[in-house]
Amino acid sequence: MTDTAPIAVALRGITKTFPGVLANDDVDLEVRRGEIHALLGENGAGKSTLMSVLTGLYQPDRGQILIGDETGSLRPVTIVSPRDAIGLGIGMVHQHFKLVPTQTVAENIILGMDGVPFVLDMGSVEADVAALSERFRMPVPVSAFIWQISVGEQQRVEILKALYRGAEILILDEPTAVLTPQEAAEVAATLRALAGEGKAIIFISHKLDEVMTVADRVTVLRKGRNVATVDVGATDKHRLAELMVGREVATTIDKDDGAIGPVVLRIDGVVARNDRGIVALKDLTLEVRAGEILGIAGVAGNGQRELTEVATGLRRVEQGTVTVDGEDLTNRPPVRFIDAGVSHVPSDRLGRGLAGNLPLADNMAMKAYRRPPIAAGPMLRRDRMRAFAGDLIERFNVDTPGPDTPARNLSGGNQQKAILAREITAGTWARERGRRPVLIAAYPTRGLDVGAIEDVRRHLIEQRSGGTAVLLISEELDELMMMSDRIAVLHGGEVMGVVAPAETTIEELGLMMAGEMRR
Ligand SMILES: Nc1ncnc2c1ncn2[C@@H]1O[C@H](COP(=O)(O)OP(=O)(O)OP(=O)(O)O)[C@@H](O)[C@H]1O
Ligand SMILES: [Mg+2]
Repeated sequence: MTDTAPIAVALRGITKTFPGVLANDDVDLEVRRGEIHALLGENGAGKSTLMSVLTGLYQPDRGQILIGDETGSLRPVTIVSPRDAIGLGIGMVHQHFKLVPTQTVAENIILGMDGVPFVLDMGSVEADVAALSERFRMPVPVSAFIWQISVGEQQRVEILKALYRGAEILILDEPTAVLTPQEAAEVAATLRALAGEGKAIIFISHKLDEVMTVADRVTVLRKGRNVATVDVGATDKHRLAELMVGREVATTIDKDDGAIGPVVLRIDGVVARNDRGIVALKDLTLEVRAGEILGIAGVAGNGQRELTEVATGLRRVEQGTVTVDGEDLTNRPPVRFIDAGVSHVPSDRLGRGLAGNLPLADNMAMKAYRRPPIAAGPMLRRDRMRAFAGDLIERFNVDTPGPDTPARNLSGGNQQKAILAREITAGTWARERGRRPVLIAAYPTRGLDVGAIEDVRRHLIEQRSGGTAVLLISEELDELMMMSDRIAVLHGGEVMGVVAPAETTIEELGLMMAGEMRR
């Protein structure tokens, strides 16, 4: 990419408000052909909103969008629907995928396209899709159903879907947030190849390392404003983090030695199957003690999900036992786990974590509605529920106009903070009932900005130091090394070893994750 490449798209003075929120404030942004342009910013800074304006999902209150031709001469356009955007060659892969699980890859790719005949020749559609996937070196199983393929593959389907519609400007909202490091590297290579073909790529990310290696230029949004557009070569991670949050950010965390207590969560010889009926946990045994963080390392898909589900009553075990603080809860319903003091920060925030259409207050009170002051006999006290949520919003720094906002309107990172607030509070009540709380946190810092990551990590350490047994699942080895008292490595549904961070290395963990070493 050179500075002289023609401009593909320009946003001028875009302002977008929601009730009580100035999401975009007079934003300018230019993206050139052949360029990978990263969009950085704290949770709630307005990144997704700006891209939704560009793709016609939202109408700006003010401002203009201009599209460039091959020579770079610009013409103003009006984009009032995603269809308009597609017509102008603008395609977007959203933060939350929009694929239909019960349809095939090929069906999803052509779904909703103009001019698709009523009766389809799926054979030729599949051939088209296969050709496209070959051209961009993005392998996908064309005739598989979406529910059968991995998140990484779904991501590729979303990208192919945009390309199939002729996208010249491709927007990706946190494309690597839910991917394994290997899958993320593949996406990066794909984006490079697409930019090489002259496409303009805009990608949103919170991962500074990734931005530094993948992007040509970076624009930083803060509180809805464009605070800087810089060449990646002329900046560094610290500078970017500072631009984002307006202060220096700690990358390490203080952790006292803690006082490790008795075993609270015990998973003993558990065998469980995944959704496809395949054995996903093979005779798995783990113990988490009061006052410790047990980190779970492993490439996603090696039993992490089934482990969290077994430990929260969401999945049946075929063999073995699950006990919490001495109480046998094997194959008991989730509500029994909650009563026993087990809290859960699930990996899919809008699936299992939150009911998107319900107000934030209802979401935050989901574990509080059976106890006073919210429950008054058989009645719910809405005023108390709102006050309760208001208090959590404040204490956990959730950025939202208030407790009546539907959960889906929160930015991704703020949804995560809301779940964490609810689950940590539930743990506090468990303690009041004389239970030893357990907190199962699956990828709790995924999709969070650097400042929010710091907050979440502090909350987890605080819980642990207060005596909670914490099970922390993460893909980031740095995070596991920094946070955990012990790390268990999962591979193929088995524990390859349990090690103390001080007595292992990233390399050794990598070998165990690959199933090439046991300890
Ligand atoms: N449909 C909506 N209705 C009301 N408020 C909204 C809506 N969409 C976004 N917001 C608000 O606008 C602001 C910007 O949100 P946006 O989703 O653009 O942030 P973001 O930069 O993408 O954050 P994240 O990194 O967490 O995804 C936030 O305060 C958010 O709560
Ligand atoms: Mg977003």
